[in-house]
Amino acid sequence: MQVQTSTVQQELLPAQFASMQRQEMPGHQEHILVVDDEASVRGLLMELLAGAGYDVTAACNAEQALLQLQEDPECSLVLADLLMPGTDGFTLLDLISRNHASVPVVIFTAMHDIHVATSTFRRGAVDLLLKPFNRAQLLDVVSRALEHSNQLKQNDVYRKNLEQIVSARTSRLRSTMNELQKSYDITLETMGYALDLRDAETQEHARRVTAYTIALARELGIDKDRLHVIACGAFLHDVGKIATPDAILLKPGKLTAEETEIMRQHSTRGYEMVHKIPFLRDASELIYAHHENFDGSGYPRGLRGEEIPLGARLFAIADTLDAMTSDRPYRKSLSFAEARAEIGRCSGTQFDPQIVKVFLAMPDGLWADLQREADQAPIGTFGVKI
Ligand SMILES: [Fe+2]
Repeated sequence: MQVQTSTVQQELLPAQFASMQRQEMPGHQEHILVVDDEASVRGLLMELLAGAGYDVTAACNAEQALLQLQEDPECSLVLADLLMPGTDGFTLLDLISRNHASVPVVIFTAMHDIHVATSTFRRGAVDLLLKPFNRAQLLDVVSRALEHSNQLKQNDVYRKNLEQIVSARTSRLRSTMNELQKSYDITLETMGYALDLRDAETQEHARRVTAYTIALARELGIDKDRLHVIACGAFLHDVGKIATPDAILLKPGKLTAEETEIMRQHSTRGYEMVHKIPFLRDASELIYAHHENFDGSGYPRGLRGEEIPLGARLFAIADTLDAMTSDRPYRKSLSFAEARAEIGRCSGTQFDPQIVKVFLAMPDGLWADLQREADQAPIGTFGVKI
């Protein structure tokens, strides 16, 4: 029932919503608080207003009026005399505006003075009633003040209702986006796992190399959206090897020239596979270029310098770092210090010298920490929190 009400409210304009609210409150009697130090005036006002069907109470001074408002903060209207002994009508108006902002106030006075009038409205009263006034004038002012106040309250309810709807929808949208992102990540993880099944030697390599690439990218100040694209590309860099025949992919010895040529096709194959997937289209550029060298000696297109996408230039360093610091069937892993020295040696030929400079300034211990974290990362993440 609650949900249905919200759905209806959401499609109504403020005036329609206000009308609906009034219909939902049959028999509601508006409460008016009269404040005047003169008993005869209080009595007359109470009689006139009660006669018009209002629920009326009275206070003989501002302090008593404030006590009554504390007990009845939903009071519909305060009708206050301006000149009273002690706390006057203006001070009472200020206190009500501060502590009971939703309660409208009408000031009445015998002072026909423009400064009194401007001060009354500037301090937040909804109307000014000049003495002497007759019954019709009193009821007219009260009726307009209540109408004005009701509209403000109903607009406020309508606004809060809209805010709740927007907040609920934003929350649902955020949840859906999170689910979608998780699905993307699981898709990536599954593609990486499919490759691992075929090439056991590279198990965990994808996660480590992603972690190293992202650490370098962060050091260069790359924004979060681009980091995610680079992470996807780094993680899937060798996905094209799914199309490489087992006899070549798993061959223990040295590859022939023809086999090397087939093996090298994995960059293009990976690009062709991943480029068709909309959320991976940008990442496919890294996959395509992940074996390019800075001096143009790489493959498949022989790109050089900044022709090579930035992500691929970062990846090239990360890939070499991981290859050198991982055990291989034909050799034990080298230290990170040895790998760093080799990468420094290949600056300007295999690697972008600007990125090598940043890489060499990064602390040695970072890579060992990232290696350990990536090896222990759970399924469903691809080793890096972006
Ligand atoms: Fe590769």
